[in-house]
Amino acid sequence: MQRREFLGSIAAASLIPGSSFAQSSRRRLIAGAHRQQILPADYPDTEIWSFDAAFPGPELRARQGDTLSVTVENASPQSTSVHWHGLRLDNTMDGVPGLTQDPIAPGDSFDYQFALPDAGTYWYHSHAKSMEQVERGLYGPLIIDETDPPDVDQDITLILDDIRLERDGTVANFDNFHDLSHAGRIGNLWLANGQIDPAYPLKRGERVRLRLISAANARVFRLGLQGFDGWIVALDGMPLSDPQALPDELILAPAQRIDLMVDVTTDENEAFVITFERDGGYAITHFPISGPSVAARQDRPVLPPNPIYPIDLANARAATLLIEGGAMGGMRAARLNGEELGARELASRGMFWALNGVAGRPDTPLLDLSSGESARIGMANNTAFPHAMHLHGVHFSEVLADGRLGPLRDTILLNPQETREIAFQAHNPGDWLFHCHMLAHHQAGMGTWIRVSA
Ligand code: C2O
Ligand code: CU
Repeated sequence: MQRREFLGSIAAASLIPGSSFAQSSRRRLIAGAHRQQILPADYPDTEIWSFDAAFPGPELRARQGDTLSVTVENASPQSTSVHWHGLRLDNTMDGVPGLTQDPIAPGDSFDYQFALPDAGTYWYHSHAKSMEQVERGLYGPLIIDETDPPDVDQDITLILDDIRLERDGTVANFDNFHDLSHAGRIGNLWLANGQIDPAYPLKRGERVRLRLISAANARVFRLGLQGFDGWIVALDGMPLSDPQALPDELILAPAQRIDLMVDVTTDENEAFVITFERDGGYAITHFPISGPSVAARQDRPVLPPNPIYPIDLANARAATLLIEGGAMGGMRAARLNGEELGARELASRGMFWALNGVAGRPDTPLLDLSSGESARIGMANNTAFPHAMHLHGVHFSEVLADGRLGPLRDTILLNPQETREIAFQAHNPGDWLFHCHMLAHHQAGMGTWIRVSA
């Protein structure tokens, strides 16, 4: 063990009362290619790129207050990096090539190590050529347990995806201008934990913590639960102070998470997670139910809060973000690497979207903040497509129509022609990416960044 790690873990442990054993062992995560049966058994298997030859990658699990140390070894054919989506971590560990680190070349490795101030449901994924690398399978769940986890019978993580496969099992090719300029790469096969409609047996009356994560490139899932009653207890990892009764429909945009605490209430022998599509509802996961029944719980579960950084809305620095481009509305001229280009030239370079008239990551940040300052960003989606805007390094609240602040999130969905405003306290120093998590859109220009100076 390196001395620095040892000291790091002691420091982390002493911050959290009651946690005397901070995890400090270093784990390896190997990015590489392997073959896995994704299509039904009578079809060929698929070459997947993944972590530790598993798709999805292994569930990384640690305790709030611990330090996570992961060496990522790149045995894949492309340069890569790993982003720990939703964690409020040290900026140098955020995994964004060209902004926080150099890409990890094939054959090289990178040591990630960071403190875990927050409990909740997160995920890790490649942040290099991510439209391709996340689609090929370079992602996995990252669960940070509360120091005193709530009492449940089952704790089930479902990382949802829609992948685009050919009938021969290969991942469909990526040089597709339609994906870049329209809704993004929408798949043709729904997966939960890498499988088509997997089964998780439950008992009647059991309380289940269900952690839904979307690793989809671009699809906005509309999900329904059948056979359960309960609450939404957290969004994007952050506990709701006032859990919300389970609605008929859950909207899960790319990269978002929803934590549910649900009780098995059905009398049938199966319960479901359904995805609602234009042509109907389809089971994406099912739960065979058996007896004997467990005594149903009555209490409404509330998770303990993560550290809170209050937002000073009255004195917040304000910025606006105009989202333009794409098909059916059109890309106008925009700046790319300092050069003003027309729509045709932009398209010939694979660029279809602009934020405030700039395609691709600009040289100067959208906001230059000092640590502790509050900020608000008003966003206008002036396009014909939905966008899931993700801010690295902090969680934000939506400023609601009545001026109140919504729940903390790290990714917000803007439907076509919608205007939304977010606010946050810039408590975490560093350069933080702010981009659309429809990964084709990010590749085709939808990314900017903010700077927080210490
Ligand atoms: Cu989940 Cu910038 O990423
Ligand atoms: Cu987008």
